[in-house]
Amino acid sequence: MGNLKFPGQNNPHFTDRGLGDTIDRFTQATGIKWLVVTITGWFGLSCGCKYRRELFNKWFPYKQKKKMNKRITLEDILDPISPKVFFSEYWGKKHLIIRRNKFKNLFTWADFSHYMNQYPAMKGMQILDYRKENDGRWCLDKVRKGQLKLPMLSKRDVYHQWNNGKSIVLPFAEYQNKDMVDICHEFERYFRNGQSNIYCSPRANSKSFPAHSDQTENFLFHTEGKVKWTIYKEFAPAKPKEILEEAILEAGDFLYIPQYQYHKVDTVGPRILISVHFANKDKQCLSNFKIGKLGDTNRSKWYNWTPQNKSNGKKLPLFPRRQRSW
Ligand SMILES: [Fe+2]
Repeated sequence: MGNLKFPGQNNPHFTDRGLGDTIDRFTQATGIKWLVVTITGWFGLSCGCKYRRELFNKWFPYKQKKKMNKRITLEDILDPISPKVFFSEYWGKKHLIIRRNKFKNLFTWADFSHYMNQYPAMKGMQILDYRKENDGRWCLDKVRKGQLKLPMLSKRDVYHQWNNGKSIVLPFAEYQNKDMVDICHEFERYFRNGQSNIYCSPRANSKSFPAHSDQTENFLFHTEGKVKWTIYKEFAPAKPKEILEEAILEAGDFLYIPQYQYHKVDTVGPRILISVHFANKDKQCLSNFKIGKLGDTNRSKWYNWTPQNKSNGKKLPLFPRRQRSW
């Protein structure tokens, strides 16, 4: 009966998104949901709770506290958790799942198609599970430089690998659009300079990563499909043993994993997942927490390259100022 609560609802700071969440909370408290799940489970049927909950949330949504600012802030990213609660209760201590649909358009299948069609004019691209030796990866940059003695693949070859179920990683991908750059700028007020990697898989059971820990604070934005996460209780250098939570996250969901905490990813269908990760600032601690100014790093800003005089409202002169020379 571990699936009675949907991920995020265990969080004491979670606020109902709509009528569906409120009904779900009520049926849990009264035991009605347990009864329905148990009885339908006997007959091998789905209780349909999730579908009903999301349908009622969609039909009867509650007002959001505030609209998105023009610039993305940490408040927007962590909503409904405040940055203060995040840093005091979760940062470096435990993982956090936030279910909502605010950032699911960061990088879509259309964006992936556009990116991959530029091949090989791109910085970095990896194919997971390409070969059996070592970590199994095929890395564009290393093959190009001759560091990896593997054949250079044509665009058609890469497409063939993708259609055969191989996952593709796009590293250094934070400049795909303004929102992704804004998110990095905002995080870098609290952390050191970071990086965004985009993980794309074409189908269920594509090769992903086994249980491991990372040396960075990980913020994960799910933008397409579903991913199964297994979060372990242990932090490195201990070994992963006890499972703390298993959850299937979908487009729009957000996950924070503290540095050194063990986790595992399984693909349960086609998916796109953006990992935005940062190392902590030197000697950063709650008692003396340092927050930098926006743009106070060496990360370049996002420029709008639309010609400025195109839309300044001025009419072009009726008569040409220069006379023709002939
Ligand atoms: Fe990881």
